[in-house]
This record gives sequence, C-alpha cells and structure tokens, in this order.
Amino acid sequence: EGEAKTIESGKLIVATNAEFPPYEYHEGDKIVGIDMEIADAIASKLGVQIEIEDIAFDSVILEVTSGKADLGLAGITATEERKQSVDFSDSYTSSKQLIIVKDDSSIASGADLEGKTIGVQTGTTGDLMVGDIKDAKPERYAKGMDAVQALSQGKIDAVVIDSEVAKKFVEETSGLKVLDEAYAEENYAIAVQKGNKELLDAVNKALSELKADGTIDSIIAKYIKA
Ligand code: ARG
Repeated sequence: EGEAKTIESGKLIVATNAEFPPYEYHEGDKIVGIDMEIADAIASKLGVQIEIEDIAFDSVILEVTSGKADLGLAGITATEERKQSVDFSDSYTSSKQLIIVKDDSSIASGADLEGKTIGVQTGTTGDLMVGDIKDAKPERYAKGMDAVQALSQGKIDAVVIDSEVAKKFVEETSGLKVLDEAYAEENYAIAVQKGNKELLDAVNKALSELKADGTIDSIIAKYIKA
C-alpha cells in the first residue's frame, strides 16, 4: 500500500491511462503525449521527479483518492461528480465529445444515435453521455481504440470519444469519419487527493506560469495541428 509522496519527498507518482492519443500514448517503450509533457514541465517547476503509472482509466481517480498516486493526469474532465472524490487543478485545456461512424453510415447527427449500439471507453464522460441517449446500448471497452476497431469491423454503430482522440483514431483507421456535431465543452484538469492543498496550490502555480510563458500552448501545438 503506497502512501502518496509529498512534494518534499522529491517524487510524484502520476496515474494515467496511456491509450489516449494525443494526450498519453505508447511510442515504442515510452509513454508520450501532451499530458506527459505537462507532467514533466510541472515536475521541473516543483523540482521533483515523476513516476508514471499506466493503469485502466476507470482506476485513475481511485488511485488518487486512495493516495497511491499523487496526481491523476489522463485527459480527465473535471466533472461535478468527480469533484466529490478528488480536487481538480485549474483547467489546462478543453475538449468535446465527438461521434465516429463508418464512412457509409446512415448516422448523421446525435439524434440518429437513438437505439444504436455505441462504443465508449469504460468510465469516461462519453460512457456517461451514451447512458443518456434514448434506447442506446453502450458497449464498453478498456481502450478507446478497441471501440474504434469494433466499429470498423461493423460490430457497433458508432463511438463517442473526446474530440482530438477521435481525430487521431480516425486518421489511423480507414473507412471511418468524425461527425461535425459536437457535444458540450469539457474542461481537462489534474486530479489531486482531496484536501492536499499544498500539492494543489503548487500544481496550480506551476500551471499558471506554464500558461503565461506559452509552454502549455506550445506543447499542445506540437501534437495538435490547428
Ligand atoms: N475526458 C474523458 C473523461 O474524463 C476521457 C478521458 C480518457 N482518458 C484516458 N487517458 N483514457 O472521462
């Protein structure tokens, strides 16, 4: 049972789910992406090392709640529900859920999702949203890309996932497209154990400096072509 380390210990454990390009993904034996560069930039501001813990997305918040990880950095949308169990930093970027379908699909908008089988990554905001679509059947996958593969094989009708991730997956898979219609904006933030004000304040201070000096924008621009 690991106790979360304080900043003074010189090391922060960062929980993520590296199945989410361009935010966190595997490249060879490394985990790279926007969130990983932000983690590095924060760590160097705080003068600490980081250790990345790559786990299932629906365990990331729990890992922070239990104190096994210091930070949850995984394209996490700061929802009201999650705020019951963790504290969130200021937002560092935003996103929207998008719908992926086959090129020849009859689904042209969110309204057409009624009664359809829709793939999502387990425990994500996309998963929650599909629960609100009338008669829709959510099909849950451990990895977003597994949902996309299932779509491409015709096993499901659509996938709902975060915008930039949707675009990356569609780039990598032939025969799929992203619909224009997007759902409400979501804000990504870093999760910290509830009440760890010292760490939360330190992360927010680092983030505000990294925003002010253009570091966050340039990290994002490296991975997302405008
Ligand atoms: N933004 C969505 C959420 O908070 C999806 C995040 C998934 N992140 C990941 N690393 N797989 O639920």
